[in-house]
Amino acid sequence: MRVASLLILSSLFLVQANPILRRQEEETPRIPPGVRVIPVYPTAETDPAGTDGDDPAIWVHPKSKGKSTIITTSKEDPIDDGLFVFNLEGKKLQYIRGGKPDNVDVIYKFGKKKIDLTVAACRTDNTICLHKINQNTGLLEPIAGGSQPTKPGFEVYGSCEYKSPKTGKQYIFINSKTSEYLQYELTQTTTGALKTTLVRSFFAGKGGQVEGCTVDRDNGYLLLGEEDYGLWRYPAEPSAPLKPYLIDSVNATAGGKLVPDVEGVSLFYGKKKDEGYIIVSVQGISAYNVYERKYPHKYIFTFGIRQKGYGGIDAVQETDGLAVISTKVNSKYPNGLLVVHDDNKTYKNGTVAEHTTFKMVSWEDIVKASGKKLKFNPSWDPRA
Ligand SMILES: *[C@@H]1O[C@H](CO)[C@@H](O)[C@H](O)[C@H]1NC(C)=O
Ligand SMILES: *[C@@H]1O[C@H](CO)[C@@H](O)[C@H](O)[C@H]1NC(C)=O
Ligand SMILES: *[C@@H]1O[C@H](CO)[C@@H](O)[C@H](O)[C@H]1NC(C)=O
Repeated sequence: MRVASLLILSSLFLVQANPILRRQEEETPRIPPGVRVIPVYPTAETDPAGTDGDDPAIWVHPKSKGKSTIITTSKEDPIDDGLFVFNLEGKKLQYIRGGKPDNVDVIYKFGKKKIDLTVAACRTDNTICLHKINQNTGLLEPIAGGSQPTKPGFEVYGSCEYKSPKTGKQYIFINSKTSEYLQYELTQTTTGALKTTLVRSFFAGKGGQVEGCTVDRDNGYLLLGEEDYGLWRYPAEPSAPLKPYLIDSVNATAGGKLVPDVEGVSLFYGKKKDEGYIIVSVQGISAYNVYERKYPHKYIFTFGIRQKGYGGIDAVQETDGLAVISTKVNSKYPNGLLVVHDDNKTYKNGTVAEHTTFKMVSWEDIVKASGKKLKFNPSWDPRA
């Protein structure tokens, strides 16, 4: 303890006394030992996506993959909070105002009519908010029962969805900042209105702030980021014993490859249950960690999204949410697409814009840059 504080004190003195060192200190990101941030470049970016964008989801069109969309959240209530829909070129197709949604996910083929839905936690009124996705246009439409209450006094934050391969039941996880998770089952009334029923609640992680989550639906894992602690795995089946597993942490002494804040999490589905990758947003260093989907979820590499040359799409900074899909949606993304939130949209003159955007990156470009032999799965069908 004493040695550590002495070290900190002396380095502070050095830094303060030396302007060059001071600048370096401020600019040097706290990259963990053994981690190298590999540069990759965006292929496209969205139109302005709200003052305080957060999280994207990718919806795959049932007939024409090129007509797939990117759905994003914005939280700046009351200026421009709500949901945005973009096409794969990044052109805005729709904006639905309100609700202060945080994370957004897509639910495919729900109920008897096999409708597609978006689900988010809406912070304005602490509800679960759902929209129907028009399967031709990709636009969002209101649906009966699209606003579902949570527990009285519960303050919603992140969310994700899970369709159980065991029972076929559709679940929604909603969490608070204080890491309490509510697991709801989503059903429909006889008239088709959506309905939710609380089936389980639990506290995850070490009690720190949690936000993004995703589910490995084949393996029944809930993957969640505790912002200043690490990446956790929990069983997603409500009947399963609550056994946490820490995949990685921010503790460099313990070999941790993460840095606060640990934010969005997404899963790249491989051909088999144990093939694929977990991608995590490491906001503190504007980078992304890649892990094996297979237990024990070994760390593979880290990348950052940079600006390519003068005039190219700007670099990505301070990502919150992200979404990855292994599907070939069009020829620009032959082996999958990664979409990430960019908090600092930066103009060519260096000014940071008021609005956020989302950047699209070809998964193949990321894998090529890493030099790793990762497996692809371009025919992956999220509806299957
Ligand atoms: C970090 O890891 C080391 C080695 O395992 C351990 O001694 C230390 O207590 C950990 N620090 C925190 C803050 O958990
Ligand atoms: C993002 O922009 C804000 C405001 O301009 C700035 O303070 C911050 O340092 C930027 N982040 C990065 C990683 O450059
Ligand atoms: C930088 O460029 C943006 C977009 O063209 C413009 O709105 C802004 O006023 C410019 N800022 C400065 C300081 O030139």
